[in-house]
Amino acid sequence: MINKTAHIKSFGCQMNKLDTVLVTAALKDAGFGFTEKLKEADVVLINTCSVRQHAEQRVFSHIGHLKHLKETRPALVVGVIGCMAQRLGRELLDNGTVDIVCGPGQIPRLTELVEKAVAKNEKQLDVSDDIRRAIDNPELEDFESVYDRADKDIPGQAFVRAMRGCDNFCTYCIVPYVRGPEVSRPVNKIVEQVKRLAGEGVKLVTLLGQAVNKYKYRAGEKTYILADLLYEVSKIGGIEWLRFVTSYPQKEGFAELIQAIDHSPKVCNYLHMPAQSGSDRILKAMNRHYTAQQYLELIDTARQIVPDIAIAGDFIVGFPDETDEDFEQTVDLVKKARYKNCFVFKYSPRPGTTADKRLQDNIPAEVKKLRNYRLLEVQQAISAELAGRFEGRRVTILVEGLSKKPHLNSDDESNNPQLVGRTADDWIVVFNGPDSLTGQFAQVKITKTSPLTLFGIL
Ligand code: 5AD
Ligand code: SF4
Repeated sequence: MINKTAHIKSFGCQMNKLDTVLVTAALKDAGFGFTEKLKEADVVLINTCSVRQHAEQRVFSHIGHLKHLKETRPALVVGVIGCMAQRLGRELLDNGTVDIVCGPGQIPRLTELVEKAVAKNEKQLDVSDDIRRAIDNPELEDFESVYDRADKDIPGQAFVRAMRGCDNFCTYCIVPYVRGPEVSRPVNKIVEQVKRLAGEGVKLVTLLGQAVNKYKYRAGEKTYILADLLYEVSKIGGIEWLRFVTSYPQKEGFAELIQAIDHSPKVCNYLHMPAQSGSDRILKAMNRHYTAQQYLELIDTARQIVPDIAIAGDFIVGFPDETDEDFEQTVDLVKKARYKNCFVFKYSPRPGTTADKRLQDNIPAEVKKLRNYRLLEVQQAISAELAGRFEGRRVTILVEGLSKKPHLNSDDESNNPQLVGRTADDWIVVFNGPDSLTGQFAQVKITKTSPLTLFGIL
């Protein structure tokens, strides 16, 4: 047993946050303590994201900060894990601050790497040599099922991986190069895991995959698609809500998927399905296999089956050669899609991707910024309108905990703290209530709304 204290900082998506949960549990099992305070740590781990340059810059500035810390504390061990570790490999060891580099496919060995780095004061590098050839590693599956504990940050909730990797090769995206080929996890492993989580008090499970609706797993005679997996997981007692992210806009299996939402009361009325652009020309250059019209048809299908389904989207603005006209088509799509919310990103060239190799990042930063702003403004009006419909309604929410940035417009006299929770369709609700509600369901009456948040009373 090692008597050391670790600190972990996590960047990026849910997939990454889940890896943080796994490695934290594994290190704790090996005897490591954990601290929120950087100053108290013997080992500092950074779980990194490569999806945009900005995310990488934040990691580099954090490493810069650790460099100073290491000047006064030379024994400090610094490890980089996640997508940047896979993308940059040995390069990360060169600046002297970093001691361990461990790719997303090597996290089952992280504890060993940390122990070696601490004991022998030697640099440790473990990444995939050729990630696209990385076959499914049984070590990863075992690691996942042993350490995948409920995320302690949000009581009552857990993320469970349905798939690893991505085979889509959208031309802007780094993920297929750092997370490897698509692998669907066995149905029985997922079911076992969710049962265990339910036993630990988990009520909401979110199934994860880069294109989770491409889930396909063959067991004996039957091939399970995501809809089948949702039915299987829905049978588990204790699990009340079930979500899945992120969906790729494809016709295959789509109606079945939405029918699963309709048929199973546990599967939440929520679909996160990025369009990325509303211009067919740009979609083609992005290697997205649909047109704006086909995308809107999928949304129509979804709403025909589940009329009140909440849909969220992602967009990239300022992709190479995006004209004002292309962008107006994106605005048009956003108006038609009537998303609950959408995430808008400025195009960021990623080394090694097809877009970076073949196209010029030729849209000026100022134009990207304006398009980003404009799209969010259009969406905000739609969100405000959709949120407004909740006024006076009673909703069921799963309480997440104390509101991090208390809202000032509280007219509550109960002396209860301000809590935050979410509805099944992912609307954020702020209300006053006892802290003991954290991790529980509650009924709240909505009294006031803003584009992103609903306010209510218990
Ligand atoms: N530049 C900007 N945004 C990107 N995304 C993925 N790659 C890039 C990139 N190179 C966005 C997409 C994706 C989300 C997770 O990040 O919109 O859906
Ligand atoms: Fe997640 Fe993508 Fe970032 Fe990797 S690059 S951490 S998969 S968002």
